[in-house]
Amino acid sequence: MPLSATKADPGKLKPAEIVDALRPAPTARGECLIALSDVVKAYGNGKPVLNGVSISVHEGETVALIGPNGAGKSTLLKTLIGLNEASAGSVTVFGDTLSRRDGRRQKARLRQQIGFVFQHHGLVMRLSALSNVLHGKLGQKGGWRALHHSIAPTEWRAEAMTALTTVRLADKAGDRADQLSGGQAQRVAIARALIRKPLLFIADEPSASLDPAAGHEVMQTFADIAEKTKTTLVFTTHDMDHALSYARRVIALKNGRICLDAESRDLRTRDLEAIFHG
Ligand SMILES: Nc1ncnc2c1ncn2[C@@H]1O[C@H](COP(=O)(O)OP(=O)(O)OP(=O)(O)O)[C@@H](O)[C@H]1O
Ligand SMILES: [Mg+2]
Repeated sequence: MPLSATKADPGKLKPAEIVDALRPAPTARGECLIALSDVVKAYGNGKPVLNGVSISVHEGETVALIGPNGAGKSTLLKTLIGLNEASAGSVTVFGDTLSRRDGRRQKARLRQQIGFVFQHHGLVMRLSALSNVLHGKLGQKGGWRALHHSIAPTEWRAEAMTALTTVRLADKAGDRADQLSGGQAQRVAIARALIRKPLLFIADEPSASLDPAAGHEVMQTFADIAEKTKTTLVFTTHDMDHALSYARRVIALKNGRICLDAESRDLRTRDLEAIFHG
């Protein structure tokens, strides 16, 4: 805490306490996890979808990415995880700059550190919620044992149960995914992402196919987990309330460029809606 902010009279502090009092305030931002610099992305010979996008996202941030249909939000997320190759500019994630030369292994390693959640949860419908959560371990060493809860190591099953408890679905562990509601299925998808112990959550419209109550519950679950585990969260949404309520920072894309990057506490719903109508 800066000296000026301490209540104690500095004259009465012991030397060690003075050193503590003089230590600069810790920065609110952690390490830079994502750095995009002048990123251009065009599909084939088409017009660039991203046209000079520069963003840094730091550890522990919660970021909502908004913008009209076709603005390039999903393209941006795919570029971050190496599913899309940037046509120009640089993309650095966890300190590694992605390049054309990166092999599948390097990209797979990057993706192991990321927990993904998409609009369509992608659960295996005929399997239990527990098996679906275990699927978050696929791709790790010995990952084939995560295919079904019956062959998973006890320790992994316990981790999956903890993840299901975190999303308040422990009682549904044995239910088949096709017996879950849309909101519950999406929370299982969050648990599947959580079991990877990711450094970063990336979610593309995680609440888009849900009713308002289930949508809020999913976003609240996500925001609570990100806060508790100090995991960085980047999500896209068309719901301006979600952007303002569940992210501390809002970035808007329009015509391939960033047209707004601000703290959500400084914004109102109408500021954001103007982006869609301008
Ligand atoms: N694989 C692809 N090949 C060619 N064009 C693509 C591909 N993926 C996306 N596009 C085009 O890129 C543009 C941006 O798409 P993108 O899906 O990134 O937008 P978005 O902001 O996520 O939109 P939405 O809000 O509808 O999800 C669109 O014009 C889309 O047609
Ligand atoms: Mg999209």
